[in-house]
Amino acid sequence: MKQGPTPGPIGVFDSGVGGLSVLREIRRQLPFEDLLFVADQSHVPYGLRSSSQVRDFSRVITNYLLSHGSRLIVLACNTASAAALHYLRRSFPDVPFVGMEPAVKPAAEGTKSRTVGVLATPATFQGELYHSVVERFAKGVTVLTDTCQGLVGQIERGDFDSPATRAILEKALHPMIARGVDRVVMGCTHYPFVIPLIEEIVGPEVEVIDPGPAVARQVGRVLETRGLRGSESSLGAVQYFTTGDPAKLRQLLPKLIGEESPVEALHWEQGQLG
Ligand code: DGL
Repeated sequence: MKQGPTPGPIGVFDSGVGGLSVLREIRRQLPFEDLLFVADQSHVPYGLRSSSQVRDFSRVITNYLLSHGSRLIVLACNTASAAALHYLRRSFPDVPFVGMEPAVKPAAEGTKSRTVGVLATPATFQGELYHSVVERFAKGVTVLTDTCQGLVGQIERGDFDSPATRAILEKALHPMIARGVDRVVMGCTHYPFVIPLIEEIVGPEVEVIDPGPAVARQVGRVLETRGLRGSESSLGAVQYFTTGDPAKLRQLLPKLIGEESPVEALHWEQGQLG
């Protein structure tokens, strides 16, 4: 990692591989920044867990990232953002956090049919954040939702286009198309990996919204306003960690982010990552 006035990587975490859909955008937009990615694959899916459990996992991972000098932390997970973003900001008031919220705003602003779809986990739909976003930004717009049961597991296995994955998406999207949606929001960071299949199902008239690029822009803005930009002398290094099986994640990386990289193991010990 680079030394200098702003050492330490940007920490990025998710329950699993979904966070890589955000990480790839951060790398595209901020190629000089060092990144440290944690996939909490021993606990995926977060979307079926209680918010207090997800909050606990998020706190432990945050402590781990901070112990590795992270100068900014990205919750590259809608479920963790819904459960833990406010809590983390209160608990670590000096640490800048960037979280996700379902991109209902751009969907509602752009819809002509006044009907949009959101795909996200059950925990995200149950959280306050989702309801406040719909209340604030989707007045007069019909918002249809689906949790795409089983889709996170398919994506964790690298299955982006099998008949089983297609069946989950068709079950979610066909009723939405029948009711006239013209925007579909990826409200879970795993789902951008199946955008090609989603686009095939919904056709060219429906816009699929991936919030990854907007989140990466927000990371750039926060680094800038806090004076935390790294030096631009060399390309940033990226380190990958998982609480699951490092060999499996390493095997999947080329499919997920188009390149090979070592993956290191992280272990949960008595509530602490070591
Ligand atoms: N990728 C996550 C999200 O954005 C969570 C998926 C899961 O673990 O259920 O919500």
